[in-house]
Amino acid sequence: MRVAIIGQGYVGLTISAFAAEHFEVVGFDSNQKIIDRLSSGISHIEGVDSSLLANRIKTGRYRATTNGSMISDCEVIVIAVPTPLTKDRKPDLSYIESACKTIGLNVSKPALIINESTSFPGTLRNFIKPNIEKFSSRQMEHQYAISPERVDPGRSDFNQKNTPRLYAGLTSEATAKTREFYSKFCDNLVEVSSPEVAEAAKLFENTFRQVNIALVNEFAQIAHALGISVYETLDAANTKPYGFMKFTPSAGVGGHCIPVDPTYLAAVAEDNGAPATFIRRANEVNLEMSKYVVDRVEADNGGSLQGKSVLVVGVAYKPNVADVRETAAELVIEHLRNRGAIVAWHDDVVGTWHGEKSSDLSGADLSIVITKHDVVDARKIMASAPYVFDTTGKLPQAHGL
Ligand SMILES: NC(=O)c1ccc[n+]([C@@H]2O[C@H](COP(=O)([O-])OP(=O)(O)OC[C@H]3O[C@@H](n4cnc5c(N)ncnc54)[C@H](O)[C@@H]3O)[C@@H](O)[C@H]2O)c1
Repeated sequence: MRVAIIGQGYVGLTISAFAAEHFEVVGFDSNQKIIDRLSSGISHIEGVDSSLLANRIKTGRYRATTNGSMISDCEVIVIAVPTPLTKDRKPDLSYIESACKTIGLNVSKPALIINESTSFPGTLRNFIKPNIEKFSSRQMEHQYAISPERVDPGRSDFNQKNTPRLYAGLTSEATAKTREFYSKFCDNLVEVSSPEVAEAAKLFENTFRQVNIALVNEFAQIAHALGISVYETLDAANTKPYGFMKFTPSAGVGGHCIPVDPTYLAAVAEDNGAPATFIRRANEVNLEMSKYVVDRVEADNGGSLQGKSVLVVGVAYKPNVADVRETAAELVIEHLRNRGAIVAWHDDVVGTWHGEKSSDLSGADLSIVITKHDVVDARKIMASAPYVFDTTGKLPQAHGL
């Protein structure tokens, strides 16, 4: 069976690697640079091994391309393209629309089309299906299904095989075919009654994380005001064996999912006349954490950061990945510069960001740790400046939340 995966990023390449064990996979991406690297067997995604990729290419199980006609006779097509927010923080379905165009223009026989991109309930039924039909030159009875991706890049205990996967088709035939497809490389498939339930469940999972992170971030501020340790208090609460789940404070949330998906839920809620005040406020609390961190650092340093050299340590949005999308480091740096600080950043896992290279981990007046990668030596961070403020809870000797 030939399978096309549209989008070869974190989600699409990961799924391609697993699917290529069982099927012939065409990895389609609109970015020529990514395709050139993949075609020479170089993976750009943590968790997808370059040697495995090279082997799949050699054995003819995987081929990366920007040529839409390569997907024409595929029987299964998986959409894994970005679903970000527009500048005014509204759902941006333009990448999905463009993927629909590629599918509509190129697929020449009825196929099973599965969306793995995160979006609001109704996207498969009311956006993807009509768009593919709009771009198709002739009438074709495709089957449509959703299976929202739950991959957590950089994580080794849960992967495509052992993470339960939700799925539902627009028809019972689509549902059955989707089950058959994923059952080859996923052990635990969970069927739900409609695509809308699967789409909503994905958004709710990440909204749950966002509001709990906001809650703990607010609590960190309360604990500091009360002069008690937020970490000790959380550990104490966590001794309760039921009804409590521990989240830890941070400079804010980052990545493609947690800062973005709840806004998709809030947007669809408001479009349907339902309130989303709690979700909206959680997002604000997390965004405001960057200012709170800089306020604390400023207060600890004589009430002014003017002319001070500040090193921001760890600009990836989470440990052990190079992903900087929506990173809290961005807002922290903005606040620091607005207050006259001379800011540099260090993150050798990320390497280059906004055209700047990672600076040395030394010689600053102040260091602020946003993300602590395992490979970075805690002692080196502590020696990088006379004053170190830690937002991760991993450096007990530093000042911190
Ligand atoms: N990264 C995660 O941890 C994660 C987890 C679960 C769900 N998701 C969701 O999965 C989807 C994809 O996310 P990602 O992290 O893989 O994004 P990504 O940015 O890593 O990869 C997306 C890829 O799609 C390509 N692309 C964009 N438009 C295209 C088009 N029209 N045709 C072909 N290729 C196109 C881009 O060049 C890029 O390589 C999003 O909806 C995201 O919310 C992501």
